[in-house]
Amino acid sequence: MKYGRLMAVVAALMFLPMLVGAETGADLWLRYSKLPESMATGYRKEAKSLVVTGNDATQQAAAGEIRMALRSLLGTTPTLSKGVADGSIVLATSSDKIVKDLIPGGLELSDDEAYVIRTVSVKKGKAILIAGRTTTGILYGTFDLLRRMQNGEDISNLDINEQPAYKLRLLNHWDNLNGTVERGYAGHSIFWNREESFEQLKDQYLTYARANASVGINGTVLNNVNASPEVLNTENLERVKQLADLFRPYNIKVYLAVNFASPAVLGGLDTADPLDENVQQWWRDKAAEIYKMIPDFGGFLVKANSEGQPGPMDFGRTHQDGANMLAGVLKPHNGVVMWRAFVYEPTNSDRAMQAYNEFMPFDGKFADNVIVQVKNGPVDFQPREPFSPLFGAMQKTPLMVEFQITLEYLGHSNQLAYLATMWKEVLDADTWALGAGSSVARATDGSLFGNELTAIAGVANIGRDINWCGHDLLQSNWYAFGRLAWNHQLSSEQIAEEWIRMTFTNDDSFVSTLEEVMMRSREAVVSYMTPMGLHHLMGWDHHYGPEPWTDLSWARADWLPRYYHRAGEDGIGFDRSSKGSNAVSQYFSPLREMYDNPATCPENLLLWFHHLPWDYRLASGKTLWDALVYKYYEGVEQARFFQKEWDKLEGKIDQERFEAIRYKFKQQTKEAIWWRDACVLYFQTFSKRPIPAELERPVHDLDELKSLKFDLKHHN
Ligand code: GCU
Repeated sequence: MKYGRLMAVVAALMFLPMLVGAETGADLWLRYSKLPESMATGYRKEAKSLVVTGNDATQQAAAGEIRMALRSLLGTTPTLSKGVADGSIVLATSSDKIVKDLIPGGLELSDDEAYVIRTVSVKKGKAILIAGRTTTGILYGTFDLLRRMQNGEDISNLDINEQPAYKLRLLNHWDNLNGTVERGYAGHSIFWNREESFEQLKDQYLTYARANASVGINGTVLNNVNASPEVLNTENLERVKQLADLFRPYNIKVYLAVNFASPAVLGGLDTADPLDENVQQWWRDKAAEIYKMIPDFGGFLVKANSEGQPGPMDFGRTHQDGANMLAGVLKPHNGVVMWRAFVYEPTNSDRAMQAYNEFMPFDGKFADNVIVQVKNGPVDFQPREPFSPLFGAMQKTPLMVEFQITLEYLGHSNQLAYLATMWKEVLDADTWALGAGSSVARATDGSLFGNELTAIAGVANIGRDINWCGHDLLQSNWYAFGRLAWNHQLSSEQIAEEWIRMTFTNDDSFVSTLEEVMMRSREAVVSYMTPMGLHHLMGWDHHYGPEPWTDLSWARADWLPRYYHRAGEDGIGFDRSSKGSNAVSQYFSPLREMYDNPATCPENLLLWFHHLPWDYRLASGKTLWDALVYKYYEGVEQARFFQKEWDKLEGKIDQERFEAIRYKFKQQTKEAIWWRDACVLYFQTFSKRPIPAELERPVHDLDELKSLKFDLKHHN
């Protein structure tokens, strides 16, 4: 067979499952699978006709979505109508005459993305009005109504008012121009180095845009923070423009991560010094080129002077000089600069303190279109960290939280860790900056310090895998990030439940079983990987699997687990108390004192802040050693529980996704045991204390675990 023919056959086979209607996960939570008749009958009465007041692309996207969705959910498509009657759904902006007719006194909406959904009286019945100040509000309101229907909610008497918590709600894709994805575990980049034409990819990109819009994500950074200067060449900007044009109706702006040395590397200048006039002119010209192609381009994300990336400090300048130079360039175009605070140096005695030390001196000195992007914790997306002390402390500078949706340190795409619980833990944490109630959410959403520019970012877990995320259940994290970015007061349970109903089924026992598993999942991962405040115990380069013993003479100390766990015969943990590195001093009172004292420090952060003897007695009466071992064992029991619970669900959903997920849970249990045994046996070499007799014996021995080489095939 000729190669071309063969490839055609291979391609046909790949798409076969889709042709025969197999569930691939490709539709995410927008499956709109047919609702049971008991639910559909009522909804049909509320959705007999559709009134759309305008032709704008966003409003049309909303209209198209609702028609397609209702056809699928209810089996009937609402007729398009000009007049409002009983059973109409009306899509309008608040300034449309129809809204004034339906709502005496009209509608006042405070935000361009805000919307209302109201049941309104009409002649001989009632209608549903979805109205925004702009058509974006209509789009968001439409997805809201559809979500309620997918969840089987009563829509007969609606009075919903929504507006977003953060202005910019962004995905960050760590996608390289060669198509690989840094810390991506779901295949190659959906954006870069594709063989298919843009036309061929359009449907996939539309699903991406619809999925984002359905949860209110309104921006996407298309390339890796470790940015190639080449992203700014004209050919790549053409691709960025194509994406921007396609995403625009869905209210998604595109952004780029830029390399600070671009004027030198790409522009051929002999410097990238931000105070150099030619450098500034190069950036101005580049910005003009970009905005000519993409008038609503969002702005730049910058990783500077971090992990070998170039930055203003290479030229004796500061973060302030670098960020403000780019801010000046983008200001005339209404663009923003997201300047990352992820910095650390090998010379620093406590890496967890460095971002604070490096950025606090610049508080209040950044231009007003700069926002500092801070990872949720002071080290690096560990399964559990305290919140970064910069939140609440930098009060005159807008800060945005960067979460990681991709599970770099939590099992890649092979383990389930539903992260809404972790993100809520961070967002709800009280910084005490202005007394009680100064949560991280309030310190970043403008309500505490009055900053106008507000944003939040999540490092995407998306790739070319047919199910987008490499693990069907990890789609929930993409969904949850968007929902929390829109409203950080939603509960993790609510988000999980919505997502399960939309993605799988409304079968109540399925929903409650999976919800419980999801709700426990992140804590389980913490327990079998890094309990009680331990962190950074994984393989130092791939970040997958336990290697607490790693010792590389040539590597930087702060790359290695031993720098973080400090296990020895005298005990374990990093002393960040006032007797140690004093990282506790970066927090406000009374947190500072609470963390400083091992008796009051929360047990789940104990070894983050303290180095304690193995026989240290916890409130429970257990010794530290026993408590730690129990935690590792508890994590494994949780993983086993997930596996068993999932097995009970067979037959309640399609076999394809059921089997794929079953396999993942099986693997997760194996890996949980791998983590438990590695950490417990390794720490035991220092503690010299027994594993409590009532616990099962480790499955592996330490030498075997140490020689186990991580297999890269795990990744995709
Ligand atoms: C982590 C991650 C890197 C990434 C970096 C960043 O260190 O392992 O791959 O580049 O974070 O956020 O910049």
